[in-house]
Amino acid sequence: MNTSATYDHAAETWDHKAQRLGYSRAYAEFLTNAVVPSGPVLDIGTGTGTFALSWVDAGGSKDLTLIDPSKAMLKRASSQFARRGITPNLLNCGFDEFSQDTRFDAVLASHVLEHFQDPYAAMRRFADRLTAQGRLYLTVSKPHWCNWVIWLRFRHRWFRPEVIKDMAHQAGLRDVKTHAFLSGPPSRTSFGYIFQKATN
Ligand SMILES: C[S@@+](CC[C@H](N)C(=O)[O-])C[C@H]1O[C@@H](n2cnc3c(N)ncnc32)[C@H](O)[C@@H]1O
Repeated sequence: MNTSATYDHAAETWDHKAQRLGYSRAYAEFLTNAVVPSGPVLDIGTGTGTFALSWVDAGGSKDLTLIDPSKAMLKRASSQFARRGITPNLLNCGFDEFSQDTRFDAVLASHVLEHFQDPYAAMRRFADRLTAQGRLYLTVSKPHWCNWVIWLRFRHRWFRPEVIKDMAHQAGLRDVKTHAFLSGPPSRTSFGYIFQKATN
């Protein structure tokens, strides 16, 4: 099964699981006092919008473009935002097909880098989408046995924080924040990262 089909099948229960396993709360914790309040924002691999909703709840800009190749995941993102009276720009495509020239004040990519064949190239392309002062917000799976269990269904990858930072530095970004999630499954599976363009 390809990645989109896998996520199409997962869409129906995704938000409920994200809530129950503590991801929505963990994302809110990570983003509090760290968001960009205005300007265009791109969420790559938005899924059902879990991370983007936490972004808005933390006071982040609502000028959102959400992209995802899974139609079923994106449909749920659309309904979740509609319930809050927010109408994001929704694009049913993978990041490889995203060809707009727009630069964004924030690029969000939560648990999606793990699905790119060449994550170094993907990180460079994430960085290319940022304005000069723009920030990249990532959550990425880390080495832990829990990720082997998740892999059985989602076939994702995981990376040590040093590797993520190396990817970001090679893409011309500097560290702003590395966030260790405090409790529950997010503390075992993932780290949060914020990067910004390095200025010489
Ligand atoms: C683990 S889910 C994360 C969803 C959401 N960002 C979150 O944190 O809950 C990964 C999402 O990335 C999407 N995805 C996979 N490959 C992608 C690609 N090349 N470009 C954009 N999105 C992709 C999948 O369809 C899926 O919805």
